[in-house]
Order: sequence, then C-alpha cells, then structure tokens
Amino acid sequence: MAQVKLKIDGKEVVTASDNTILMAARQAKIHIPTLCYHPRLPISGACRVCVVEVEGRPALVASCAMPVADGMVVHTKTERVLRARRLVVDLLLAGGDHNCLLCQSNGVCELQELAYELGIESFRFPIDSPGHPRDTSNAMIERDLNKCILCGRCVRACNEVQVNEVIDFGFRGGKSKIVTAWDLPYGESNCVFCGECVSVCPTGALTERQAKFRGRPWELKKVRTTCTYCGVGCQLDLNVADGKVVKVTSDYRYGPPNFGSLCVKGRFGYDFIHHPDRLKTPLIRDKGELREASWEEALGLVAKKFSEIKEKHGPDALAGLTSARCTNEENYLFQKFFRGALGTNNVDHCARL
Ligand code: FES
Repeated sequence: MAQVKLKIDGKEVVTASDNTILMAARQAKIHIPTLCYHPRLPISGACRVCVVEVEGRPALVASCAMPVADGMVVHTKTERVLRARRLVVDLLLAGGDHNCLLCQSNGVCELQELAYELGIESFRFPIDSPGHPRDTSNAMIERDLNKCILCGRCVRACNEVQVNEVIDFGFRGGKSKIVTAWDLPYGESNCVFCGECVSVCPTGALTERQAKFRGRPWELKKVRTTCTYCGVGCQLDLNVADGKVVKVTSDYRYGPPNFGSLCVKGRFGYDFIHHPDRLKTPLIRDKGELREASWEEALGLVAKKFSEIKEKHGPDALAGLTSARCTNEENYLFQKFFRGALGTNNVDHCARL
C-alpha cells in the first residue's frame, strides 16, 4: 500500500494512502473525538463531532470520512474546530432527555464524556425532548429514544454487521427517529435480540434490561470468558457485581471468532447461572423418584447399564446421539467412545434430524 506524508497538529505522520484523517491521527496518538464513528462499522460521517481544519479547504471536514492526501496539513484543536464541536454537542443535548442522574449508561456514555471534554457547563439551548415513550416491550433491550442522538450506529450494526435489517431511520427532520418496520416496539418487531445495537450505542438509548439497577458501570467487574452455548467459542465479558453476573458484554477488539458480536443466547441468556432450579449434581431415578447422586455413582450406573445391554443384546442395541452445540473435540470423543469402547457405529448428531 502506498504511503503518504501529512502533518497533524504540527506532527509529521506517515500513513497508508487509503486511511482517513481520523485513522492517521489515531496512529499518531492524536485524539479526535467521535460519536457516529465505530471501528467495526462502515463510515457514515453523520455527527460532525470529529471535524478538523485542513489547510486550503474553506469548510471544516469530518476526519472520520476524509481520506488523507500527501502534503495535507491538519489542525484538530483550533478555536474554530472546538466551537463547531461544542455547537454539535449543545444541539444534541437540547434535542433529547439527557438526564445522566437517571440514566443506566451514566459513566459509560460517550455524549456525557464529550460534553465534559469540551467543557460544557450548562445547556446552551432550551431542551426540547421529543417525548417518546420508553420501549419496554421485551425482557432484553430497553429503548429510550429520548436519549438517542441519531448517530446511526445501531442501524449500521443491525443492517451491515448482523444483516438482520430490523431497524432504520424513520420520519423526517426534527421528527426523525430510529424505527422498526411499521414503527413497532422491539418486542413486536422481527428483532432477533442479538443485542448488536446495544453494544454500539454511545448513549443510554439502548440498554440491557436485565442489568437495570443491578450495578453501576464502575461497580461491574468484567471477566472475559468463552460462551458455553455452542462450539463456536465466542468471546464475551461477564459483568459481575456482588458475585453475580448482571450483564454480558462483548468487545470487538477480542477478534475472532465473533469480533464482539453475540447471539441472543450468548448476550441475554445468562439467568440460568444463578437460577434456583439449576441442576448442580447428577440425579438418579430410584424407585420412580429422582435423587441427587455423586458423579462417581451416576457414571458407574451408566457404565453398568451399558455393559448389561451390550452383554444381553449385543453392542448394536446401543446408540448415541450428540449435539452441534458441543465442541469438535467433545464430538470426536463421543463417537470414539461409542465406536472404540462400546463397539457400535450407532452414533448420530442432532443437526441431521
Ligand atoms: Fe465523524 Fe461522526 S464521528 S462525523
């Protein structure tokens, strides 16, 4: 890839010619704030928070969308740039209900962070919140469109990463909002609840419902682990408060296999962990009743029954059915056990049913 040389805030930067100004600045450890930009998503250049001054250009340019050019001279922190960024944030604050005191995302909100970074002390314009009702139509995702800044990250995540195509921009001008088909609540839409939209939302517009009031962001300890639901091996973070898992998040920087994406089970199906009905020991049916047993006793009983059946009816009287949800290694061991130890090829897989 051809390289170009440019100057950002007086610093000489050599970067690939297909990079944007924002990417070149990040490479040189020069901070430019962003809102609609997300490294995992296609660029939209919608929010204009990342504007910079480029010498020779009359207007400010969105650094996340502007490609670099050889000899370019960029200024990221001039008074003109900062004034423009403040205006964007002032307008966003006026156009919604950004009450951090009552917000689940307090402490991890990118808009809150940006207002602080830009030294915004008070609301410059009268607040004109759209007054949307909160969408609590499902058990997993809460939507408060009064906190939405229309950055479109959720739309791109849904349509271009997960390709579920459930949400998009709807209506026009001041009435614009993110909608499902026919503007239905999430619970009645064809949303599959992968939660990709929640994972990229920069504000408190989309939050995990089950985590509400169960721990502030700074109280949660993140424990990286591998999802147990299937053999793909998705990487995720269990968010733990007081020894209890209250939320599951993901991080695109963990890379393969899932690059931060999860399915509904991986992201929201964690209530089994602390469920009182969860089985913690094997159960053996004894005179019609299930009773708790040790692993040793349970496995001993299964081995004994297998031997009895094999002796009486031959090995082909036994059959094993395994699962696509197991890892390759587990499935390999399973068939090996049936073929090698029990002596039958009667092994099948739920994915073929
Ligand atoms: Fe560049 Fe929004 S981050 S326009």
